[in-house]
Amino acid sequence: PAKLPPPYRIKVVEPIPFLSADERRLALAEAGHNPFNLRADQITIDLLSDSGTGATSAAQEAAAALGDESYAGARSWFRFRDEVRDLTGYPHILPVHQGRAGERILFSSLLKPGQICISNTHFDTTHANVKLAGAEPRDLPCPEAADLDSDEPFKGNIDLAALERVLTGPEGHRVGLVLVTITNNGLGAQPVSMANLEAVRELCQRHAVPFFLDAARFAENAWLVREREPAYSDWTPRQIATRAFQLADGCVVSLKKDGLTAIGGLIGLRDDELHATCEANLIATEGFSTYGGLAGHDLERLAQGLKEVVDPAYLQSRAASTARLAQMINDAGVDTIQPPGIHALYLNAGRLLPHLAPHEFPGHSLGCQLYLDGGIRCAELGSLYLGGMDDEHRLVTPAPFELVRLAIPRRVYTDAHFEYVASVLADIAKEPERVRGYRIVSSPPLLRHFKVRLEPL
Ligand code: F0G
Repeated sequence: PAKLPPPYRIKVVEPIPFLSADERRLALAEAGHNPFNLRADQITIDLLSDSGTGATSAAQEAAAALGDESYAGARSWFRFRDEVRDLTGYPHILPVHQGRAGERILFSSLLKPGQICISNTHFDTTHANVKLAGAEPRDLPCPEAADLDSDEPFKGNIDLAALERVLTGPEGHRVGLVLVTITNNGLGAQPVSMANLEAVRELCQRHAVPFFLDAARFAENAWLVREREPAYSDWTPRQIATRAFQLADGCVVSLKKDGLTAIGGLIGLRDDELHATCEANLIATEGFSTYGGLAGHDLERLAQGLKEVVDPAYLQSRAASTARLAQMINDAGVDTIQPPGIHALYLNAGRLLPHLAPHEFPGHSLGCQLYLDGGIRCAELGSLYLGGMDDEHRLVTPAPFELVRLAIPRRVYTDAHFEYVASVLADIAKEPERVRGYRIVSSPPLLRHFKVRLEPL
């Protein structure tokens, strides 16, 4: 049967800039060869993040016009709360302006200094917020995740045996939280199976440790469960998502992804006492508990976005579009983490550019080349981001892989944009040795990748 097109058409458009090669070279140099420092109007295709970059629908904008901006008890809050309660089943819902605000409030209320937070992989802000709470973030991804090329369906899973070893071992009493990220953004956008979540719940219950979801991409995880976990093939994505939330004690969610909005987040909780602590913190730092740093119109867009994001036709079309881009890229001779996820593709820059050593930052070099050749912006996930450096900014411990993430904004780019991206990559893959390495010129002490400046070698 013919492949179905996306279940929407385009009504409002925004022009994208096309700079000359000289203009791009100048722009990148002025940005210290760090794409984070580029101006958006210097970028043709922006694949830096899928966060807050999606298109809203006509129904969301219509709902936004009804936004109730009352300081407390706004109509829009109740619409949002009821939608989230229905989706997640959690009795307590706290709105926050974005995911990391939820992380800060939850971790500072739940984690005690010296405790350990275990995850399949902490996202970078999640990692930072666990540390700010005085606790230690520890990643226990499943062993299958280490093979970038295998077709294992659930490489986002947590390593259950390793989790059990920590819980039953000498450090067991220090574990304050198990946080499973669905899908696993830090490790190739790979999904987590329901069987894995069920086993985590069982272990956490046995050891009386709270189990939470970092559910920024809950709908995309649900779609991949439906596709890849036979027991769920006739469940709807929404039913699968609800079941996942039911297995956990609570969640933190950045709604800038599967909320289909530019801003927003939430904390979902069962525990009354934890809710009271988080709510006090929320009111002091984010806003009253019926808006949490969001405007009424944001809450309205979110309530509608959460309905649209679990539409099987939308998820099917988005997953197929990412898979087609992966196929085009692989056909051009560039390997990506397999199997493709939904919100992003991860290019294996280390393999494409064997002439560059880790200290020359092959992932960063490929990202810069994509900008120089095609005005495409993306993010490095390799030694520049994850490697250990000495005081002179020299790489001491390389990252395990040299990757580049192409994040796919929701409902924004068409297959024609992706054909362009693949063709720029294909040209690089024909002559990879012309891609030059980089060295660090200056670097901030914290969250290096955002503000680092480099120069080509
Ligand atoms: N958790 C995960 C898994 C995320 O991917 C993000 C953000 C956050 C938490 C934090 O949420 O941005 O709303 O404060 N990820 C974006 C990205 C920034 O590009 O992957 P936030």
